[in-house]
Amino acid sequence: MAALKKSGKMTSRRTVAKRQSPPVSLRYKKTIQQLQNKIKELNVWKHRLSMILEFGQKSSAITDLDDLLILFVDEAKTVLNADRATVFLVDRKEKVLWSKVAIGTEPIRIPIDKGIAGSVVSMGRLLNIKEVYEDPRFNPEIDKKTGYRTRSILAAPLRNSKKEVIGVFQVLNRKGSASFDSQDEEVLTLLAEQASGVVENAQLYLEIKKIAYETIIRLAGAAEYKDHDTKTHLWRVAQYSGILAETMGFPKEWIENIKMAAPMHDIGKIGVPDHIINKPGKLDPSEWDEMKKHSQYGSEILKGSDIELMQMSASIALHHHERWDGKGYPNGIVGEKIPIEARIVSLADVFDALTTQRSYKPAFSIEESATIIHSESGKQFDPKVVDAFSKSFSKFVAIREQFKKANDHPGQPAQPIFVVK
Ligand code: C2E
Ligand code: SIN
Ligand code: SIN
Ligand code: FE
Repeated sequence: MAALKKSGKMTSRRTVAKRQSPPVSLRYKKTIQQLQNKIKELNVWKHRLSMILEFGQKSSAITDLDDLLILFVDEAKTVLNADRATVFLVDRKEKVLWSKVAIGTEPIRIPIDKGIAGSVVSMGRLLNIKEVYEDPRFNPEIDKKTGYRTRSILAAPLRNSKKEVIGVFQVLNRKGSASFDSQDEEVLTLLAEQASGVVENAQLYLEIKKIAYETIIRLAGAAEYKDHDTKTHLWRVAQYSGILAETMGFPKEWIENIKMAAPMHDIGKIGVPDHIINKPGKLDPSEWDEMKKHSQYGSEILKGSDIELMQMSASIALHHHERWDGKGYPNGIVGEKIPIEARIVSLADVFDALTTQRSYKPAFSIEESATIIHSESGKQFDPKVVDAFSKSFSKFVAIREQFKKANDHPGQPAQPIFVVK
């Protein structure tokens, strides 16, 4: 029907046109002009599409959420010719929209129901505001803080596969023309769809990692449930190990793995009798023999997996009491024969044992503990790992302080300050 109507209209228009036809040359000129305009428009689209495809290719090679968001913001600015772009993520618990990547400004946190972005969340649809200062929904607070002058905003919702709004993709101040047009709306809608998938994937991935990490900590903690402080001990050892690995320049994924594997280093203590683990004083030789078996037990529990993380954790469990000078246990292996992940966790574990109280020893101060670590360079510890410890000492102190605070309030469960990034 619609098609018929259209063609009907066109015929009548053509008839009208024929009756008072302008000179041929002028007619051609007009048509050529129109075609040229179309070609120009198509070229703009072609350019935009090729840019979008190019970004799509780039984004499939990135798995880190922050890096992806930065890429999308760049893409939006380029393709939409915008002066600024921001991806806000919805935090329903805190009732805020937050952004790490507001290029050109500091990170932003705004109330979830405020401003243009907040309206996009509550209405769940795109908004194209040509003059924001004439729109009562606009929240001028951010402009006030940054000194930036926002004129136009185009903002589209990000949705997860359940169609819930999980973020807002916003571009500010179109360059070269007054405001964003309907073509820009289509492009931003497309970009928002791309970004939605990526953000949702990354969030699910993070969630799975968090669950895995919680499970590891809880299971590893269960092995040593007798020690009340075990859970925070395991968290700290994970953090310390991650800091050392990072300082030594290991790749991101390896750092993630060692942080996950480190908490399992003492899981073999589950095989050691309670009365030995909890003994307030020095162990006698036969008790010490029993205690030393925890490395072997741990590796028995963890070995044989084809998951890289598990292989690493088995290696750490077996070797975390080896010494650089070969006087450690269970195998007395020397130097670089000891897997690097075990050399790292060894220092992290001992630093934490030193700085906290044990059933058999009081806590040393952070400074005393650092002195002991340094004095063991080339003896108990790999000098390169001790170097990394010195370089990153302030970070160790920060982690220690964070957990001290958590321990000051025994009534409250310690916060999982550890954030999987
Ligand atoms: P842990 O308490 O987690 O201690 C881990 C490691 O930290 C120790 O491994 C040791 O290398 C280092 N460490 C702990 N306290 C000190 C200290 O006061 N000075 C120095 N220089 N290093 C310290 P190690 O020796 O192989 O012990 C393994 C585990 O055996 C300990 O884990 C702990 O559970 C148990 N253990 C060791 N000695 C005793 C003890 O005398 N009494 C009791 N009840 N348990 C002990
Ligand atoms: C708003 O959403 O109203 C303000 C956002 C901004 O200026 O970035
Ligand atoms: C142990 O007693 O063997 C562990 C603590 C220490 O080395 O002083
Ligand atoms: Fe151990």
